[in-house]
Amino acid sequence: MSNSLTQKLIFIRKLKQSDLKKLVKFRNNKIVWKLVGGGGFQKKITLNDEIKWFRKVNKKKDRLNLAICLNEKYVGNIYFTDMTKSSAQFHIFIGETSLWGKGIGSKSMILSINFLRTNYDITKIYLKVKKENIPAIKLYEKCGFKIKKKLYKNFYLMTNY
Ligand SMILES: CC(C)(COP(=O)(O)OP(=O)(O)OC[C@H]1O[C@@H](n2cnc3c(N)ncnc32)[C@H](O)[C@@H]1OP(=O)(O)O)[C@@H](O)C(=O)NCCC(=O)NCCS
Repeated sequence: MSNSLTQKLIFIRKLKQSDLKKLVKFRNNKIVWKLVGGGGFQKKITLNDEIKWFRKVNKKKDRLNLAICLNEKYVGNIYFTDMTKSSAQFHIFIGETSLWGKGIGSKSMILSINFLRTNYDITKIYLKVKKENIPAIKLYEKCGFKIKKKLYKNFYLMTNY
């Protein structure tokens, strides 16, 4: 296979404990977290905080924590939360801002939605996004989502159904 084809291999896998060291850095990046919205962090997150968080969320049956990888390198997260038999809420961030705008978000979003459909039979996906987060809104529109309604605190609800 030529180099140009292997250069940008994007895949998703389950988030694991060994990712947490890097996740701490992502979580403490205010540029990323301001856009994500909800539960803004007041203090610096430590590795210990992250381990506690991971143990808690990993036990949840209605939640899936995925890692986005670029050529084996862990670069961001996708979560499906509030999973029922037919629907789930979607969340995404790419932790390294230098990697934004290179197609990683859209490719990993499509991969994860296909994964959910194939493995869980879940097809209805919804998400909440800050009204001013134009890159995210464009990403979601590119992946077939539409604004359904305005929510509290300047958020939109977007769905793929
Ligand atoms: C939102 C986010 C995941 C997008 O990932 P990404 O890899 O940068 O997105 P892509 O490169 O796949 O771009 C998808 C589409 O979004 C749009 N887009 C991306 N960056 C954009 C920007 N800076 N301005 C306007 N549109 C933009 C484009 O329409 C693009 O499609 P195109 O390249 O075919 O034109 C990433 O910016 C991020 O992690 N942001 C911080 C966290 C966040 O906001 N999460 C979402 C919370 S709801």
